[in-house]
Amino acid sequence: MKTKEELKKEIFSKVKEYFLLAHRQKQFIPGKSKVNYAGRVYDEKELISLVDSALDFWLTAGRFARQFEKEFAEFLGVKHCLLTNSGSSANLLALSALTSPTLGEKQLKPGDEVITVAAGFPTTVNPIIQNNLIPVFIDVNLGTYNIQCDKIEDAISDRTKAIFIAHTMGNPFNLDAVMEIVKKHDLWLIEDNCDALGSKYKGKYTGTFGHIATFSFYPPHHATMGEGGALVTNDTNLKRLIESFRDWGRDCWCEPGCDNSCGKRFDWQLGELPYGYDHKYIYSHIGYNLKVTDMQAAVGVEQLKKLPSFIEARKRNFRLLYDGLKKYDKYFILPEIEKGAEPSWFGFLLTVRENAGFSKIDIVKYLEEHKIATRMLFAGNITRHPSFTGVNYRTYGDLMNTDYIMNDTFWVGVYPGMTGEIIRYILYCFEEFISLKLNDGKSA
Ligand SMILES: Cc1ncc(COP(=O)(O)O)c(C=O)c1O
Repeated sequence: MKTKEELKKEIFSKVKEYFLLAHRQKQFIPGKSKVNYAGRVYDEKELISLVDSALDFWLTAGRFARQFEKEFAEFLGVKHCLLTNSGSSANLLALSALTSPTLGEKQLKPGDEVITVAAGFPTTVNPIIQNNLIPVFIDVNLGTYNIQCDKIEDAISDRTKAIFIAHTMGNPFNLDAVMEIVKKHDLWLIEDNCDALGSKYKGKYTGTFGHIATFSFYPPHHATMGEGGALVTNDTNLKRLIESFRDWGRDCWCEPGCDNSCGKRFDWQLGELPYGYDHKYIYSHIGYNLKVTDMQAAVGVEQLKKLPSFIEARKRNFRLLYDGLKKYDKYFILPEIEKGAEPSWFGFLLTVRENAGFSKIDIVKYLEEHKIATRMLFAGNITRHPSFTGVNYRTYGDLMNTDYIMNDTFWVGVYPGMTGEIIRYILYCFEEFISLKLNDGKSA
């Protein structure tokens, strides 16, 4: 009879065979193959790891989740990483943790204000509203698509307690300026690093500056688990709070399937509960269940090994696009970066200039017709969406650039699955579009 290990080996070798047969990359045919804006990049190792976790049949967070959390924290050089089931959940947990009454003076209370931007992904802003806090919107710069730092101090009121912003599309915001304000006004800083894994600012990874940072492992992101997210922090107290909100609001911090990690499971007296009530069932927060499964983490563990090469590929693809498109800066605002920033790009953003002679819709339609996927800068201006009807928010100054972005900005991919041939095809399509438009102009 075969041992478990021998059987596993056999299964894994079949999985590899299956991968080679069923998942092999198809040849790229310009004009026929779809150029995605992003996508999963993986090999048989992710499939094997996923099957390995299936054979464990542990299902909830287990050995793979622990391994990922440890290795991800080491990669970034932070104390704690906590996995969750999405980047949106990570954002919700980050802000919810700051509403814990255990934080005393620093607790975020209903009606407190959180500074953010309206040009971005909705679930950076939604947790502010979901926690009965008030988002305060500041405009962004065109080119960097990040917050206008010179407006932050003036936007602060006596109810302002936190700043919660993303490194837009992987492009680090001015961390020197933001950190100075955070320290001076004793604010919380949450970095939404969902689109910026691997980006650096003055040599240090983004996501390691603020009190908490969040990550997404949805397929278009720098590494994937299918669905998945993470939070990192250097503050052990915040780690506990995040864990509590993630795991039903409980006070106990035992791993799934473990008992008595605190060593005094039947020796607590909290709230109005009787002395000795089982700590496993004592709740200190109004929490959620936003845990990850071990199958997701098993995929993540293998993706993490590929992360350095993914980051390099994103940078390379961005550079190739930038070098090819810079001659069109009469028509487009090209991406700009802060001094000291080293972006690990999520995508390549372009804003059609006012006097370009064509609209964003013209170029986007042309690219899509030529099988090149395009995307908007997410919500464009979140305050203009139906979801915002009746929402209580404040704007500091106008959101002129945010509206400009909603109307005139789009992006194309830079993800590691894009080859030099694909990038050349994208550049060729831009060239064809511009020359068509120039000829239209002449005949008009
Ligand atoms: C900046 C930003 N924050 C948060 C999220 C949410 O992540 P998820 O899709 O994993 O919920 C996204 C999604 O792409 C994002 O771009």
